[in-house]
Amino acid sequence: MIKIDSNKCDSCGLCIRICHESCIKSIEGILSIDSKYCSTCTQCIAVCPKQALNWDGIKPEEFDKSLYPESTQLAELLRERRTIRDFTKQLIDKSLLEEIAGYAIYAPTHDFKLRVLILDDENIINRIDDLILKFSTNLYNRVYKPKIIYFLLKLFTPAYESEFLKAKPKLENAIKRKRGLKTKPAAVIMIIGNKKMPLSLESAQYALYNIDLYAQTKGIGCRNLVGNQLILNGNKQFKKSIGLTHYEKIYGTLALGYPAVRFKNKVTGKRINIQWNAMENETNEIV
Ligand SMILES: Cc1cc2nc3c(=O)[nH]c(=O)nc-3n(C[C@H](O)[C@H](O)[C@H](O)COP(=O)(O)O)c2cc1C
Repeated sequence: MIKIDSNKCDSCGLCIRICHESCIKSIEGILSIDSKYCSTCTQCIAVCPKQALNWDGIKPEEFDKSLYPESTQLAELLRERRTIRDFTKQLIDKSLLEEIAGYAIYAPTHDFKLRVLILDDENIINRIDDLILKFSTNLYNRVYKPKIIYFLLKLFTPAYESEFLKAKPKLENAIKRKRGLKTKPAAVIMIIGNKKMPLSLESAQYALYNIDLYAQTKGIGCRNLVGNQLILNGNKQFKKSIGLTHYEKIYGTLALGYPAVRFKNKVTGKRINIQWNAMENETNEIV
């Protein structure tokens, strides 16, 4: 909760100006926050020159700009991030997992009531792997084995043919190696939220990316399991076994471990398609 230290406040009004929920008021120089409307974004704490606002009575700290990475350093880190699917057997210290998971709070998540669940119990990780394998096997047997489905898909929705075919060798491989995931991760971090809260998925994926990048600086590789998450969310028993209530859903899933493979090269040729000022009814082509 955001708290105000009236002794430090000099009524400059910056917090009132920055508050995008308009829930901070000053009446005769006395500041008050209507927490009903507060999204807990904490921009008021971050902007106050007198450090008169805080979270739960804990004094804010000023940024140390000398610690900022150069843009070239950040660019290198962003280019180096890759999905890691081959992990060593090395475990990750619990304290390091907690430190990494904590960076979720610095994503623009507001008050979506998200929480972070760290799973490093081998039995739970094995259960996740089993569920993914079971789903892959069922999907392969029911959708890929009967030739009629491929025939119908080609006939009625040919645009999806390549997507359909892309998954085939992946599923065959999983069935052959008897594993859902390629190798066993040391831990899985999940972002859990209320089923009815809009924008939770988007918010959780931001939080997950903070975790992913910070983990990378600690030599840990990550694999976003947002695809496989559909399988886990569909299994009530599993959700209950990891402590989710009826109202909760998994909004983000990251597998973590020490990489068994090192990526050496920056990929420089592949580019995102950037467009400028594209207007409706006008050509989007950039020459
Ligand atoms: C929406 C989305 C869902 C994804 N789901 C999975 C997944 O379930 N399992 C997985 O291994 N990778 C998943 N990925 C990761 C991509 O497959 C991965 O980004 C791709 O292999 C490119 O590798 P890179 O991350 O190293 O650039 C997902 C990526 C996105 C954007």
